[in-house]
Amino acid sequence: MALRRLVGVTAFTVAGVGVWAHSRDDLTRRTRNVQRRLRCLLQEKGSDVTHSQPSSYFRSALAESSTPFSDSLEDIPYWAKSTETVPKKFPAKSSAIVVQPQVSFLEIRKRIFSNAESVNVLRGKVSHFQSCSFGANLEIEDTFAVEPRLKSSNGALFGVFDGHSGKAASKFCQDELFSFLKYICAENRNNNLISKKGFLIADECFLTRAFDEKRYQDGLSGACSIVSHISGNAITIGNAGDCRCIIARKISNESEIPKYRAIQLSNDHQISTNGSERERILREHPNEVNIIRRDRVKGRLEPTRGIGDGKYKRMEFFERSSAAQTESVWTPPYTTAEPEITQHRLTKDDEFMIMATDGLFQDLSSQEVVDFAAQFVHSNKNSPSDSKSQNVSGHLVEKALLAASEHRFGRVGEQENLNLILNLEPGGERRKVHDDVTILTVFFNGSSEHESDSAVSIGHNEPEPPTMRHCKNSHS
Ligand SMILES: *[C@@H]1O[C@H](CO)[C@@H](O)[C@H](O)[C@H]1NC(C)=O
Ligand SMILES: *[C@@H]1O[C@H](CO)[C@@H](O)[C@H](O)[C@H]1NC(C)=O
Ligand SMILES: *[C@@H]1O[C@H](CO)[C@@H](O)[C@H](O)[C@H]1NC(C)=O
Ligand SMILES: *[C@@H]1O[C@H](CO)[C@@H](O)[C@H](O)[C@H]1NC(C)=O
Repeated sequence: MALRRLVGVTAFTVAGVGVWAHSRDDLTRRTRNVQRRLRCLLQEKGSDVTHSQPSSYFRSALAESSTPFSDSLEDIPYWAKSTETVPKKFPAKSSAIVVQPQVSFLEIRKRIFSNAESVNVLRGKVSHFQSCSFGANLEIEDTFAVEPRLKSSNGALFGVFDGHSGKAASKFCQDELFSFLKYICAENRNNNLISKKGFLIADECFLTRAFDEKRYQDGLSGACSIVSHISGNAITIGNAGDCRCIIARKISNESEIPKYRAIQLSNDHQISTNGSERERILREHPNEVNIIRRDRVKGRLEPTRGIGDGKYKRMEFFERSSAAQTESVWTPPYTTAEPEITQHRLTKDDEFMIMATDGLFQDLSSQEVVDFAAQFVHSNKNSPSDSKSQNVSGHLVEKALLAASEHRFGRVGEQENLNLILNLEPGGERRKVHDDVTILTVFFNGSSEHESDSAVSIGHNEPEPPTMRHCKNSHS
Protein backbone atom coordinates (compact mmCIF):
# COMPACT_ATOMS: atom_id res chain seq x y z
CA MET A 1 0.00 0.00 0.00
CA ALA A 2 1.52 3.25 -1.07
CA LEU A 3 0.97 5.15 2.12
CA ARG A 4 2.59 8.50 2.05
CA ARG A 5 5.99 8.43 3.63
CA LEU A 6 6.20 11.24 6.07
CA VAL A 7 9.47 12.93 6.68
CA GLY A 8 8.74 15.39 9.39
CA VAL A 9 6.39 16.92 11.82
CA THR A 10 4.30 19.48 10.07
CA ALA A 11 2.77 22.04 12.35
CA PHE A 12 -0.78 21.09 13.17
CA THR A 13 -3.39 23.07 11.34
CA VAL A 14 -7.04 23.16 12.18
CA ALA A 15 -8.04 24.17 8.70
CA GLY A 16 -9.36 20.75 7.76
CA VAL A 17 -11.52 20.50 10.84
CA GLY A 18 -14.06 22.95 9.47
CA VAL A 19 -14.94 20.68 6.60
CA TRP A 20 -17.09 18.44 8.68
CA ALA A 21 -17.88 20.28 11.91
CA HIS A 22 -21.55 21.04 12.27
CA SER A 23 -21.55 24.32 14.11
CA ARG A 24 -19.17 26.99 15.28
CA ASP A 25 -19.38 25.71 18.89
CA ASP A 26 -18.85 22.22 17.72
CA LEU A 27 -15.84 23.34 15.74
CA THR A 28 -14.32 25.20 18.66
CA ARG A 29 -14.89 22.32 21.01
CA ARG A 30 -13.45 19.74 18.66
CA THR A 31 -10.52 21.96 17.77
CA ARG A 32 -9.72 22.43 21.43
CA ASN A 33 -9.98 18.72 22.06
CA VAL A 34 -7.63 17.97 19.22
CA GLN A 35 -5.14 20.57 20.36
CA ARG A 36 -5.24 19.34 23.94
CA ARG A 37 -4.76 15.78 22.78
CA LEU A 38 -1.84 16.68 20.58
CA ARG A 39 -0.16 18.80 23.22
CA CYS A 40 -0.45 15.91 25.59
CA LEU A 41 1.03 13.53 23.05
CA LEU A 42 3.91 15.84 22.26
CA GLN A 43 4.61 16.26 25.98
CA GLU A 44 4.82 12.52 26.33
CA LYS A 45 7.75 12.80 23.98
CA GLY A 46 9.48 15.25 26.24
CA SER A 47 11.91 17.62 24.58
CA ASP A 48 12.76 15.20 21.80
CA VAL A 49 10.19 16.58 19.48
CA THR A 50 9.98 20.19 18.52
CA HIS A 51 8.27 21.61 15.55
CA SER A 52 11.51 22.81 14.07
CA GLN A 53 13.67 19.70 14.18
CA PRO A 54 11.53 16.64 14.06
CA SER A 55 12.96 14.54 11.30
CA SER A 56 16.05 13.41 13.15
CA TYR A 57 13.87 12.18 15.97
CA PHE A 58 11.62 10.46 13.52
CA ARG A 59 14.52 8.76 11.85
CA SER A 60 15.87 7.48 15.13
CA ALA A 61 12.43 6.25 16.15
CA LEU A 62 12.28 4.33 12.91
CA ALA A 63 15.75 2.93 13.38
CA GLU A 64 14.81 1.72 16.84
CA SER A 65 11.71 0.02 15.68
CA SER A 66 13.05 -1.84 12.68
CA THR A 67 14.75 -5.00 13.82
CA PRO A 68 16.84 -6.98 11.38
CA PHE A 69 15.78 -10.35 12.66
CA SER A 70 12.10 -10.96 12.36
CA ASP A 71 11.68 -13.36 15.23
CA SER A 72 12.69 -10.74 17.76
CA LEU A 73 10.29 -9.34 20.31
CA GLU A 74 9.13 -6.97 17.62
CA ASP A 75 6.48 -9.45 16.53
CA ILE A 76 4.73 -8.79 19.81
CA PRO A 77 2.75 -5.56 19.71
CA TYR A 78 1.86 -3.94 23.02
CA TRP A 79 -1.86 -4.20 22.48
CA ALA A 80 -2.03 -7.97 22.68
CA LYS A 81 -5.57 -8.93 23.58
CA SER A 82 -6.95 -7.61 26.78
CA THR A 83 -10.43 -7.62 28.18
CA GLU A 84 -10.42 -3.98 29.22
CA THR A 85 -12.95 -1.72 27.62
CA VAL A 86 -12.20 1.45 25.70
CA PRO A 87 -10.91 3.97 26.68
CA LYS A 88 -7.84 2.11 27.74
CA LYS A 89 -4.66 3.40 29.26
CA PHE A 90 -2.09 4.73 26.89
CA PRO A 91 0.91 2.48 26.52
CA ALA A 92 3.71 3.63 28.77
CA LYS A 93 6.16 3.99 25.92
CA SER A 94 5.38 7.09 23.94
CA SER A 95 5.79 7.29 20.22
CA ALA A 96 6.52 9.71 17.44
CA ILE A 97 3.43 11.60 16.48
CA VAL A 98 3.43 13.07 13.05
CA VAL A 99 0.69 15.55 12.53
CA GLN A 100 -0.32 16.60 9.08
CA PRO A 101 -3.07 18.79 7.82
CA GLN A 102 -6.29 16.82 7.85
CA VAL A 103 -7.27 15.04 4.68
CA SER A 104 -10.93 14.70 3.79
CA PHE A 105 -13.11 11.69 4.44
CA LEU A 106 -13.17 11.09 0.72
CA GLU A 107 -9.39 10.84 0.59
CA ILE A 108 -9.33 8.66 3.72
CA ARG A 109 -11.84 6.29 2.19
CA LYS A 110 -9.93 6.15 -1.07
CA ARG A 111 -6.87 4.97 0.82
CA ILE A 112 -8.64 2.49 3.07
CA PHE A 113 -10.79 1.05 0.28
CA SER A 114 -8.02 0.98 -2.30
CA ASN A 115 -8.04 -2.82 -2.61
CA ALA A 116 -11.69 -3.41 -1.66
CA GLU A 117 -13.42 -5.81 -4.00
CA SER A 118 -16.90 -7.19 -4.40
CA VAL A 119 -17.32 -10.42 -6.36
CA ASN A 120 -20.54 -12.10 -7.46
CA VAL A 121 -20.72 -15.84 -6.99
CA LEU A 122 -24.40 -16.73 -7.37
CA ARG A 123 -23.96 -20.39 -6.72
CA GLY A 124 -25.39 -22.56 -3.98
CA LYS A 125 -25.78 -20.56 -0.81
CA VAL A 126 -23.16 -17.96 -1.70
CA SER A 127 -24.49 -14.81 -3.30
CA HIS A 128 -21.36 -12.65 -3.31
CA PHE A 129 -18.36 -11.79 -1.20
CA GLN A 130 -16.33 -8.70 -0.43
CA SER A 131 -12.72 -8.37 0.59
CA CYS A 132 -10.56 -5.58 1.91
CA SER A 133 -7.19 -5.49 3.61
CA PHE A 134 -5.06 -2.77 5.10
CA GLY A 135 -1.46 -2.98 6.21
CA ALA A 136 0.18 -1.88 9.42
CA ASN A 137 3.46 -3.42 8.34
CA LEU A 138 5.51 -1.97 5.50
CA GLU A 139 4.46 -4.95 3.46
CA ILE A 140 1.18 -6.41 4.69
CA GLU A 141 1.71 -9.91 6.07
CA ASP A 142 -1.93 -10.97 5.85
CA THR A 143 -3.22 -12.86 2.83
CA PHE A 144 -6.49 -14.47 1.84
CA ALA A 145 -7.62 -17.01 -0.73
CA VAL A 146 -11.01 -17.74 -2.26
CA GLU A 147 -12.26 -20.50 -4.47
CA PRO A 148 -15.95 -19.65 -4.60
CA ARG A 149 -16.86 -22.14 -7.31
CA LEU A 150 -15.16 -25.43 -6.60
CA LYS A 151 -15.11 -27.48 -9.78
CA SER A 152 -16.09 -30.82 -8.35
CA SER A 153 -18.98 -29.70 -6.15
CA ASN A 154 -21.25 -26.76 -5.61
CA GLY A 155 -19.12 -25.70 -2.70
CA ALA A 156 -16.88 -22.75 -1.96
CA LEU A 157 -13.64 -22.35 -0.02
CA PHE A 158 -12.60 -19.16 1.76
CA GLY A 159 -9.38 -18.68 3.70
CA VAL A 160 -7.82 -15.86 5.70
CA PHE A 161 -4.18 -16.03 6.82
CA ASP A 162 -2.54 -13.74 9.35
CA GLY A 163 1.20 -13.79 8.85
CA HIS A 164 3.84 -12.80 11.38
CA SER A 165 7.64 -12.56 11.32
CA GLY A 166 7.51 -12.20 7.56
CA LYS A 167 5.17 -13.17 4.80
CA ALA A 168 6.47 -16.56 3.69
CA ALA A 169 4.00 -18.68 5.70
CA SER A 170 0.91 -16.63 4.87
CA LYS A 171 1.92 -16.56 1.20
CA PHE A 172 2.31 -20.34 1.28
CA CYS A 173 -1.18 -20.70 2.78
CA GLN A 174 -2.61 -18.42 0.12
CA ASP A 175 -0.96 -20.33 -2.71
CA GLU A 176 -1.04 -23.91 -1.49
CA LEU A 177 -3.20 -24.70 1.53
CA PHE A 178 -6.36 -25.35 -0.52
CA SER A 179 -4.43 -27.78 -2.75
CA PHE A 180 -3.31 -29.76 0.28
CA LEU A 181 -6.86 -29.85 1.64
CA LYS A 182 -8.24 -31.05 -1.69
CA TYR A 183 -5.53 -33.61 -2.13
CA ILE A 184 -6.03 -35.15 1.30
CA CYS A 185 -9.78 -35.12 0.80
CA ALA A 186 -9.43 -37.00 -2.50
CA GLU A 187 -7.01 -39.43 -0.95
CA ASN A 188 -9.38 -40.15 1.91
CA ARG A 189 -12.24 -40.57 -0.56
CA ASN A 190 -14.58 -38.53 1.58
CA ASN A 191 -16.21 -35.13 1.35
CA ASN A 192 -14.33 -33.50 4.18
CA LEU A 193 -12.27 -30.80 2.56
CA ILE A 194 -11.43 -29.37 5.97
CA SER A 195 -9.23 -31.92 7.68
CA LYS A 196 -6.64 -31.90 10.44
CA LYS A 197 -4.39 -33.96 8.22
CA GLY A 198 -4.60 -31.39 5.42
CA PHE A 199 -3.37 -28.61 7.71
CA LEU A 200 -0.72 -30.78 9.36
CA ILE A 201 0.78 -32.04 6.12
CA ALA A 202 0.78 -28.59 4.58
CA ASP A 203 2.69 -27.37 7.64
CA GLU A 204 5.23 -30.21 7.48
CA CYS A 205 5.85 -29.52 3.82
CA PHE A 206 6.25 -25.80 4.38
CA LEU A 207 8.82 -26.31 7.14
CA THR A 208 10.71 -29.17 5.50
CA ARG A 209 10.96 -27.39 2.20
CA ALA A 210 12.12 -24.14 3.83
CA PHE A 211 14.77 -26.04 5.78
CA ASP A 212 16.04 -28.10 2.85
CA GLU A 213 16.29 -25.00 0.69
CA LYS A 214 18.06 -23.17 3.52
CA ARG A 215 15.33 -20.53 3.63
CA TYR A 216 15.52 -20.48 7.43
CA GLN A 217 14.00 -17.04 7.72
CA ASP A 218 10.95 -18.24 5.77
CA GLY A 219 10.60 -21.23 8.08
CA LEU A 220 10.63 -18.94 11.10
CA SER A 221 7.63 -17.03 9.79
CA GLY A 222 4.15 -18.17 10.76
CA ALA A 223 0.52 -17.75 9.78
CA CYS A 224 -2.66 -18.10 11.79
CA SER A 225 -4.95 -19.80 9.32
CA ILE A 226 -8.70 -20.12 9.05
CA VAL A 227 -10.50 -21.85 6.18
CA SER A 228 -14.22 -22.31 5.65
CA HIS A 229 -15.90 -24.74 3.29
CA ILE A 230 -19.49 -23.93 2.38
CA SER A 231 -21.44 -26.70 0.72
CA GLY A 232 -25.20 -26.44 0.54
CA ASN A 233 -26.28 -25.27 3.95
CA ALA A 234 -23.30 -26.79 5.70
CA ILE A 235 -20.31 -24.73 6.76
CA THR A 236 -17.17 -26.39 8.05
CA ILE A 237 -14.42 -24.28 9.58
CA GLY A 238 -10.83 -25.27 10.23
CA ASN A 239 -9.03 -22.81 12.47
CA ALA A 240 -5.45 -22.76 13.72
CA GLY A 241 -4.62 -19.49 15.41
CA ASP A 242 -6.40 -16.26 16.22
CA CYS A 243 -8.28 -15.39 13.03
CA ARG A 244 -12.03 -15.57 13.52
CA CYS A 245 -15.19 -16.55 11.64
CA ILE A 246 -18.57 -15.12 12.63
CA ILE A 247 -22.07 -15.61 11.26
CA ALA A 248 -24.58 -12.76 11.42
CA ARG A 249 -27.98 -14.19 12.26
CA LYS A 250 -30.99 -11.93 11.96
CA ILE A 251 -32.94 -11.94 15.21
CA SER A 252 -35.45 -9.17 14.65
CA ASN A 253 -37.01 -7.34 11.72
CA GLU A 254 -38.61 -4.69 13.89
CA SER A 255 -36.44 -1.65 13.31
CA GLU A 256 -35.29 -0.22 10.00
CA ILE A 257 -31.92 -1.87 10.50
CA PRO A 258 -32.65 -5.46 11.56
CA LYS A 259 -30.92 -6.80 14.63
CA TYR A 260 -28.34 -9.55 14.30
CA ARG A 261 -26.71 -11.89 16.70
CA ALA A 262 -23.04 -12.70 16.16
CA ILE A 263 -22.48 -16.45 16.18
CA GLN A 264 -18.79 -17.19 16.52
CA LEU A 265 -17.83 -20.32 14.58
CA SER A 266 -14.21 -20.46 15.70
CA ASN A 267 -12.26 -20.15 18.95
CA ASP A 268 -9.14 -18.03 19.19
CA HIS A 269 -5.96 -19.91 19.98
CA GLN A 270 -3.97 -17.56 22.16
CA ILE A 271 -2.45 -17.88 25.61
CA SER A 272 -4.13 -14.73 26.91
CA THR A 273 -7.68 -15.60 25.92
CA ASN A 274 -7.73 -19.38 25.78
CA GLY A 275 -7.17 -21.19 29.06
CA SER A 276 -7.23 -24.64 27.51
CA GLU A 277 -4.44 -23.74 25.09
CA ARG A 278 -2.39 -22.43 28.01
CA GLU A 279 -3.00 -25.67 29.90
CA ARG A 280 -2.15 -27.78 26.87
CA ILE A 281 1.27 -26.18 26.55
CA LEU A 282 1.98 -26.42 30.28
CA ARG A 283 0.85 -30.05 30.32
CA GLU A 284 3.02 -31.01 27.36
CA HIS A 285 6.13 -29.47 28.96
CA PRO A 286 5.70 -30.32 32.63
CA ASN A 287 9.23 -29.58 33.80
CA GLU A 288 9.94 -26.44 31.87
CA VAL A 289 9.78 -23.30 33.97
CA ASN A 290 8.84 -19.94 32.54
CA ILE A 291 7.42 -21.51 29.44
CA ILE A 292 4.70 -18.87 29.41
CA ARG A 293 5.83 -15.34 30.03
CA ARG A 294 3.91 -12.14 29.34
CA ASP A 295 1.05 -14.36 28.11
CA ARG A 296 3.18 -15.63 25.25
CA VAL A 297 4.80 -18.91 24.36
CA LYS A 298 8.36 -18.57 25.69
CA GLY A 299 7.64 -14.89 26.21
CA ARG A 300 7.46 -14.35 22.47
CA LEU A 301 4.63 -15.77 20.43
CA GLU A 302 1.01 -14.96 21.14
CA PRO A 303 -0.92 -17.45 18.96
CA THR A 304 -0.58 -21.08 20.01
CA ARG A 305 -1.48 -22.61 16.66
CA GLY A 306 -0.69 -21.89 13.04
CA ILE A 307 1.24 -22.88 9.94
CA GLY A 308 5.01 -22.30 10.11
CA ASP A 309 6.67 -20.80 13.21
CA GLY A 310 9.56 -23.21 12.72
CA LYS A 311 11.39 -22.55 15.94
CA TYR A 312 8.35 -23.39 18.06
CA LYS A 313 8.05 -26.74 16.31
CA ARG A 314 11.53 -27.93 15.39
CA MET A 315 14.91 -27.65 17.06
CA GLU A 316 16.73 -27.10 13.79
CA PHE A 317 14.90 -23.81 13.26
CA PHE A 318 15.42 -22.72 16.86
CA GLU A 319 19.15 -23.25 16.44
CA ARG A 320 19.12 -20.88 13.50
CA SER A 321 17.07 -18.20 15.21
CA SER A 322 18.22 -15.32 17.37
CA ALA A 323 16.34 -16.89 20.29
CA ALA A 324 19.12 -19.48 20.51
CA GLN A 325 21.45 -16.76 21.79
CA THR A 326 19.33 -15.99 24.84
CA GLU A 327 17.22 -19.08 25.58
CA SER A 328 18.90 -22.00 27.29
CA VAL A 329 15.90 -24.32 27.52
CA TRP A 330 13.93 -25.05 24.37
CA THR A 331 11.87 -28.21 23.90
CA PRO A 332 9.67 -27.90 20.81
CA PRO A 333 7.02 -28.50 19.67
CA TYR A 334 5.10 -25.86 21.59
CA THR A 335 2.65 -24.81 18.91
CA THR A 336 0.77 -26.87 16.35
CA ALA A 337 -0.84 -26.52 12.94
CA GLU A 338 -3.69 -28.78 14.04
CA PRO A 339 -6.91 -26.88 13.40
CA GLU A 340 -10.00 -26.98 15.53
CA ILE A 341 -12.80 -28.08 13.21
CA THR A 342 -16.31 -26.76 13.78
CA GLN A 343 -19.52 -27.11 11.83
CA HIS A 344 -22.56 -24.98 11.35
CA ARG A 345 -25.83 -25.46 9.55
CA LEU A 346 -27.07 -22.28 7.85
CA THR A 347 -30.63 -21.19 8.57
CA LYS A 348 -32.60 -18.75 6.47
CA ASP A 349 -31.85 -16.02 9.04
CA ASP A 350 -28.07 -16.38 8.63
CA GLU A 351 -27.38 -13.48 6.27
CA PHE A 352 -23.64 -13.10 6.07
CA MET A 353 -20.37 -14.40 7.41
CA ILE A 354 -17.24 -12.46 8.36
CA MET A 355 -13.80 -14.05 8.33
CA ALA A 356 -11.01 -11.80 9.52
CA THR A 357 -7.55 -11.56 10.98
CA ASP A 358 -7.30 -10.51 14.61
CA GLY A 359 -6.58 -6.92 13.56
CA LEU A 360 -10.35 -6.52 13.31
CA PHE A 361 -10.92 -7.73 16.85
CA GLN A 362 -8.15 -5.82 18.56
CA ASP A 363 -10.62 -3.25 19.88
CA LEU A 364 -13.98 -4.59 18.67
CA SER A 365 -16.04 -7.57 19.85
CA SER A 366 -17.66 -10.00 17.41
CA GLN A 367 -21.06 -8.50 18.23
CA GLU A 368 -19.83 -4.95 17.60
CA VAL A 369 -18.38 -6.04 14.26
CA VAL A 370 -21.69 -7.60 13.23
CA ASP A 371 -23.64 -4.53 14.40
CA PHE A 372 -21.43 -2.22 12.32
CA ALA A 373 -21.65 -4.50 9.29
CA ALA A 374 -25.46 -4.55 9.57
CA GLN A 375 -25.52 -0.75 9.33
CA PHE A 376 -23.64 -0.81 6.04
CA VAL A 377 -25.61 -3.71 4.63
CA HIS A 378 -28.86 -1.91 5.34
CA SER A 379 -27.90 1.72 4.90
CA ASN A 380 -29.77 2.03 1.60
CA LYS A 381 -32.43 -0.62 1.56
CA ASN A 382 -34.15 0.61 -1.58
CA SER A 383 -31.50 -0.66 -3.89
CA PRO A 384 -31.62 -4.45 -4.07
CA SER A 385 -27.97 -4.88 -5.00
CA ASP A 386 -26.95 -2.38 -2.38
CA SER A 387 -24.84 -4.61 -0.21
CA LYS A 388 -22.75 -5.17 -3.33
CA SER A 389 -21.82 -1.53 -3.67
CA GLN A 390 -21.26 -0.92 0.01
CA ASN A 391 -17.96 -2.76 0.45
CA VAL A 392 -18.84 -3.87 3.94
CA SER A 393 -15.33 -5.25 4.40
CA GLY A 394 -13.90 -1.82 3.60
CA HIS A 395 -16.17 -0.15 6.15
CA LEU A 396 -15.15 -2.69 8.75
CA VAL A 397 -11.47 -2.00 8.09
CA GLU A 398 -12.24 1.68 8.63
CA LYS A 399 -14.00 0.88 11.93
CA ALA A 400 -11.06 -1.18 13.08
CA LEU A 401 -8.64 1.68 12.33
CA LEU A 402 -10.91 4.16 14.05
CA ALA A 403 -11.19 1.98 17.15
CA ALA A 404 -7.41 1.48 17.26
CA SER A 405 -6.85 5.21 16.90
CA GLU A 406 -9.34 6.05 19.67
CA HIS A 407 -7.65 3.51 21.88
CA ARG A 408 -4.25 5.04 21.28
CA PHE A 409 -4.98 8.75 20.99
CA GLY A 410 -8.29 9.14 22.77
CA ARG A 411 -11.49 10.06 20.98
CA VAL A 412 -11.05 13.32 19.10
CA GLY A 413 -13.49 12.90 16.21
CA GLU A 414 -13.76 10.39 13.39
CA GLN A 415 -11.88 12.35 10.81
CA GLU A 416 -9.08 13.42 13.17
CA ASN A 417 -8.72 9.93 14.57
CA LEU A 418 -8.47 8.41 11.10
CA ASN A 419 -6.00 11.08 10.06
CA LEU A 420 -3.88 10.46 13.12
CA ILE A 421 -3.61 6.76 12.38
CA LEU A 422 -3.13 7.11 8.63
CA ASN A 423 -0.30 9.56 9.15
CA LEU A 424 1.74 7.04 11.13
CA GLU A 425 4.66 5.41 9.41
CA PRO A 426 3.80 1.86 8.23
CA GLY A 427 5.94 -0.78 9.85
CA GLY A 428 7.21 1.57 12.55
CA GLU A 429 4.85 3.55 14.73
CA ARG A 430 1.79 2.28 12.94
CA ARG A 431 2.51 -1.31 13.83
CA LYS A 432 2.40 -0.38 17.49
CA VAL A 433 -1.08 1.10 17.20
CA HIS A 434 -2.78 -1.48 15.01
CA ASP A 435 -2.17 -4.76 13.22
CA ASP A 436 -2.63 -5.71 9.58
CA VAL A 437 -6.35 -6.20 8.95
CA THR A 438 -7.88 -8.50 6.34
CA ILE A 439 -11.62 -9.08 6.07
CA LEU A 440 -13.74 -11.34 3.90
CA THR A 441 -17.50 -10.86 4.13
CA VAL A 442 -19.53 -13.60 2.46
CA PHE A 443 -23.23 -12.96 1.77
CA PHE A 444 -25.72 -15.80 1.66
CA ASN A 445 -28.67 -16.11 -0.65
CA GLY A 446 -31.56 -16.54 1.74
CA SER A 447 -33.99 -17.56 -0.99
CA SER A 448 -32.21 -20.73 -1.99
CA GLU A 449 -32.63 -23.65 0.36
CA HIS A 450 -30.65 -26.34 -1.39
CA GLU A 451 -30.71 -28.83 1.44
CA SER A 452 -29.65 -31.67 -0.81
CA ASP A 453 -26.62 -29.86 -2.17
CA SER A 454 -24.52 -30.63 0.84
CA ALA A 455 -24.32 -34.25 -0.24
CA VAL A 456 -22.55 -33.45 -3.50
CA SER A 457 -19.36 -35.40 -3.85
CA ILE A 458 -16.01 -33.69 -3.80
CA GLY A 459 -13.63 -36.46 -3.06
CA HIS A 460 -13.71 -38.56 -6.16
CA ASN A 461 -12.45 -36.16 -8.79
CA GLU A 462 -8.80 -36.65 -8.00
CA PRO A 463 -7.33 -33.15 -7.88
CA GLU A 464 -3.77 -32.45 -8.89
CA PRO A 465 -1.46 -33.25 -6.00
CA PRO A 466 0.05 -30.16 -4.41
CA THR A 467 3.79 -29.78 -4.52
CA MET A 468 4.45 -32.77 -2.34
CA ARG A 469 8.16 -33.13 -2.73
CA HIS A 470 9.92 -33.37 0.62
CA CYS A 471 6.74 -34.71 2.11
CA LYS A 472 7.08 -38.41 1.46
CA ASN A 473 7.85 -39.28 5.07
CA SER A 474 4.98 -37.47 6.64
CA HIS A 475 2.58 -38.53 3.95
CA SER A 476 1.43 -41.98 4.95
C1 LIG B 1 -17.20 -0.86 -3.69
O1 LIG B 1 -16.47 -1.56 -4.66
C2 LIG B 1 -17.01 -1.50 -5.97
C3 LIG B 1 -16.11 -2.31 -6.86
O2 LIG B 1 -16.05 -3.62 -6.44
C4 LIG B 1 -17.10 -0.07 -6.44
O3 LIG B 1 -17.74 -0.04 -7.70
C5 LIG B 1 -17.89 0.75 -5.45
O4 LIG B 1 -17.85 2.11 -5.81
C6 LIG B 1 -17.31 0.60 -4.06
N1 LIG B 1 -18.15 1.28 -3.12
C7 LIG B 1 -17.67 2.10 -2.20
C8 LIG B 1 -18.67 2.68 -1.28
O5 LIG B 1 -16.50 2.35 -2.11
C1 LIG C 1 -30.72 -16.73 -4.95
O1 LIG C 1 -31.10 -18.02 -5.36
C2 LIG C 1 -32.17 -18.02 -6.28
C3 LIG C 1 -32.59 -19.47 -6.52
O2 LIG C 1 -31.48 -20.32 -6.58
C4 LIG C 1 -31.72 -17.33 -7.56
O3 LIG C 1 -32.76 -17.30 -8.50
C5 LIG C 1 -31.30 -15.89 -7.21
O4 LIG C 1 -30.78 -15.26 -8.35
C6 LIG C 1 -30.26 -15.89 -6.14
N1 LIG C 1 -30.02 -14.52 -5.72
C7 LIG C 1 -28.83 -14.09 -5.32
C8 LIG C 1 -28.76 -12.64 -4.91
O5 LIG C 1 -27.85 -14.79 -5.28
C1 LIG D 1 -37.69 -11.26 8.86
O1 LIG D 1 -38.56 -11.13 7.74
C2 LIG D 1 -38.41 -12.15 6.75
C3 LIG D 1 -39.29 -11.80 5.56
O2 LIG D 1 -40.55 -11.44 5.98
C4 LIG D 1 -38.74 -13.50 7.35
O3 LIG D 1 -38.58 -14.53 6.40
C5 LIG D 1 -37.83 -13.76 8.52
O4 LIG D 1 -38.15 -14.97 9.17
C6 LIG D 1 -37.89 -12.62 9.54
N1 LIG D 1 -36.84 -12.85 10.52
C7 LIG D 1 -37.00 -12.62 11.82
C8 LIG D 1 -35.84 -12.96 12.69
O5 LIG D 1 -38.02 -12.17 12.31
C1 LIG E 1 -9.54 -22.79 23.19
O1 LIG E 1 -9.18 -23.64 22.10
C2 LIG E 1 -9.77 -24.93 22.17
C3 LIG E 1 -9.20 -25.75 21.03
O2 LIG E 1 -9.57 -25.24 19.80
C4 LIG E 1 -11.27 -24.81 22.10
O3 LIG E 1 -11.86 -26.08 22.19
C5 LIG E 1 -11.75 -23.92 23.23
O4 LIG E 1 -13.13 -23.71 23.12
C6 LIG E 1 -11.02 -22.59 23.21
N1 LIG E 1 -11.40 -21.82 24.38
C7 LIG E 1 -11.75 -20.53 24.32
C8 LIG E 1 -12.08 -19.89 25.61
O5 LIG E 1 -11.83 -19.93 23.26
